[in-house]
Amino acid sequence: MCGIFGANNGRPVASKLIDSLRRLEYRGYDSAGIAVVGAQGLDLRRASGCVDRLAAVVRDDRPEGTVGIAHTRWATHGAPTDVNAHPHAFDGVAVVHNGIVENHAELKWWLSDLGHEFVTETDSEVLPHIIAKMRRDGMDHRQAVAATLEYAKGSLALAAVFEDAPDRIVVARRGSPLAVAISEDGAYVSSDPAAFDAVGGRFTHLEDGEVAELTRGDVWFDGADGDARRNRWEPVVLPQDGGDPRAGHSSFMAKEMAEQPDAWSRTVASARAFAGVEELAAADRIAIVACGSSYYAGLMARAWFEREAGLACDIEVASEFRHRGGVLSERQVVLCLSQSGETADTLAVIEEMRAAGRRTFALVNTARSAMTRAADRCWLTDAGREIGVAATKTFTAQVAALVVLALRVAHARGRIDADRLEKALDGLASLSDMIRQTLALEGRMASAASAFADRRSAFYLGRGPAFAAALEGALKLKEIGYVQAEAYAAGELKHGPIALIEPGVPVVVVAPSDHLFEKTLSSAQEVKARGARLLLLTDAGGAARAGRLADDTVVLPGADAWAVTVSAVIALQFLARHIATARGLDVDRPRNLAKSVTVE
Ligand code: M6R
Repeated sequence: MCGIFGANNGRPVASKLIDSLRRLEYRGYDSAGIAVVGAQGLDLRRASGCVDRLAAVVRDDRPEGTVGIAHTRWATHGAPTDVNAHPHAFDGVAVVHNGIVENHAELKWWLSDLGHEFVTETDSEVLPHIIAKMRRDGMDHRQAVAATLEYAKGSLALAAVFEDAPDRIVVARRGSPLAVAISEDGAYVSSDPAAFDAVGGRFTHLEDGEVAELTRGDVWFDGADGDARRNRWEPVVLPQDGGDPRAGHSSFMAKEMAEQPDAWSRTVASARAFAGVEELAAADRIAIVACGSSYYAGLMARAWFEREAGLACDIEVASEFRHRGGVLSERQVVLCLSQSGETADTLAVIEEMRAAGRRTFALVNTARSAMTRAADRCWLTDAGREIGVAATKTFTAQVAALVVLALRVAHARGRIDADRLEKALDGLASLSDMIRQTLALEGRMASAASAFADRRSAFYLGRGPAFAAALEGALKLKEIGYVQAEAYAAGELKHGPIALIEPGVPVVVVAPSDHLFEKTLSSAQEVKARGARLLLLTDAGGAARAGRLADDTVVLPGADAWAVTVSAVIALQFLARHIATARGLDVDRPRNLAKSVTVE
């Protein structure tokens, strides 16, 4: 979380910094700021809110200088105010930071005793103070930043500029990601190489614990292998698509939802060719480890590993799994699942598993990410870049890839023959048409949403994979509609949650007409009997069996219960989006959230 960008390119950099920050805004949009260094010294501009607000500040009062750093913030310590916005500066040193300085309180006490005064509530403010102290103690710029990395505990990626050296940026990282690039006109630093799209050239990721200095023409790495690592530069791949980034849609979320049929087809095709699936097949148990929507994708696909492949499958929340000290069997495989490939807890699981000598597996959507580099075997979903904070096409792509993996494992374990495997995979691929039909139900879901728009709470029910769909649907509504939406396994209703049902409360029931349909319908009847407003998502057979029970019944496409459940996920994306839009909310940038959760 938090996006860092820096440029040293011999030209006035303020506009370039702000344009580049826009590409990093998915990492946080609580505040933004830049620091430019030039003949006039250090010049800072900061504003709470999104980058557009900073752009407005800078438009009327542009700082001059050809070297600068920039930051878009997701607040961890201190409210999202102007004063807490980065960069933070002290004694001619300005710093932008991504991560958490865990021992910031102790560091503030130490520095306060030395006469330093702090003006923000942030952990990050200690960084320019330490660097300035190290400079006063006689260290050069790089040494001062390297020493700061030693003093500050926790995860950090940082970039610093100096009033007394207006020709350089010094950068460092431990834990949080940071990459540097060299193009024809200068040197750049960014939290995410995607921001280099606008500069071209070549880039490389900083190694953990590495410090580097960006001059106008080059990047100098500290450490013995500084020269050797020059061979590890990769070309910046410039995007082919120009024009309207939302392609005519009202939001990135709308665009990304519409891309689901293609994302599904591409991912099924790629997963059919994933190398190394036999390593999963040799396992005696699998743990899928993830956070948020990725966790629900694992939950939705679990039955395929268990029923088809005969492989016991646990689904684990990464932040719990890593600290639980659970017992893994000798041949158990841990598969980490992540859209961004940057989620701190999921990444930590990979790193901790590697340190324990286990082979590590990841399924990730972002090819240039920390997890793709960290895992021994990384498979890629092929959903394309997702910008809206709510996972949509990446969720369905994860489900697609997991089901292909499960089927291929089933084949490798001799549970299905090659013919049945191919038929099943073809059937799975053809679900892209069903997804298209579901997308055509937007108007229907918009009208279903109108009954919810003024409600502060909602309940979602389902069983088996449909429970995972209910969880994912409820998360979407919480995240972008700010509605207290809770999902329960329908069988759990009578164990407590039913006490919350009162007249008018919306309850969404996901019930494909499978062997569990009658049981789920009983739960629907129980909430209806207590006055709930019932929205039933089912197929044609289910709708016929439910009759007039629900206040609103949406008939979903899908040839079997599994397909109907996939369709329900998309219908629930529409439901959340239309509720959020009716409330006038920004579906792409919901409050308090960021696209990548790079802090624990
Ligand atoms: O990048 P990841 O898949 O690891 O992210 C995990 C969650 O932060 C993410 O799925 C989050 O829950 C989504 N914004 C939900 O829409």
